[in-house]
Amino acid sequence: MIIAVDGPAASGKGTIAKALARHYNLPHLDTGLLYRAVAATVRRLELDPTREADAVAACDFDELTLADPVLREEEIGKLASVVSAHPLVRAALLQRQKRFAHQDGGAVLDGRDIGTVIAPDADAKLFIRATPTICARRRHNELISHGASVSFDQVLADIRARDTRDSSRSTAPLVPANDAALLDTSFLSIEASIEKAIALVEARR
Ligand code: C5P
Repeated sequence: MIIAVDGPAASGKGTIAKALARHYNLPHLDTGLLYRAVAATVRRLELDPTREADAVAACDFDELTLADPVLREEEIGKLASVVSAHPLVRAALLQRQKRFAHQDGGAVLDGRDIGTVIAPDADAKLFIRATPTICARRRHNELISHGASVSFDQVLADIRARDTRDSSRSTAPLVPANDAALLDTSFLSIEASIEKAIALVEARR
């Protein structure tokens, strides 16, 4: 069974995807990490993220890069959304994600284009969303709990800018697949969101 989980930044898609993978005992891939690894490599090599050729050169990152805590930085998330808009960067990461999705036994993947590009044939597609204010509040709390000093307004502005860039790019924009089930987690606890997600998958497979 292939489960595709898409949605904007800090919507809860990662938490839900991990819980689904546990529930169905499937391997899970957070595809955002791949774009974050490209972003971190661009920064480390002092390349220009707005130049497609520079960003493509950074797609050849070391496997170890995926485990680097630096990938979780807000700055890297921002940079990831710049490099991910280049069609050749998306093309460079495509097969790896498709292979993961179509491995024997299935998988859970979360990102922005899983249901539309990586696995349009997924057995269940969820599009997770929450209001930008609620996404920003969650992300802000998470950052504060990790010791970062950043204002709520800054987090909200960054999330809005990132989602606008992700939704408006021409290659693989952030949009729900036609056959995706929409799950709004704005007023749901984590537990309730997970329960709902499982019910939606059950209804679709
Ligand atoms: O999900 P996460 O916040 O880690 O993603 C970082 C950035 O990577 C996103 O803002 C988006 O630009 C990009 N991304 C993407 N397609 C995916 C996953 C992430 O374009 N499937």
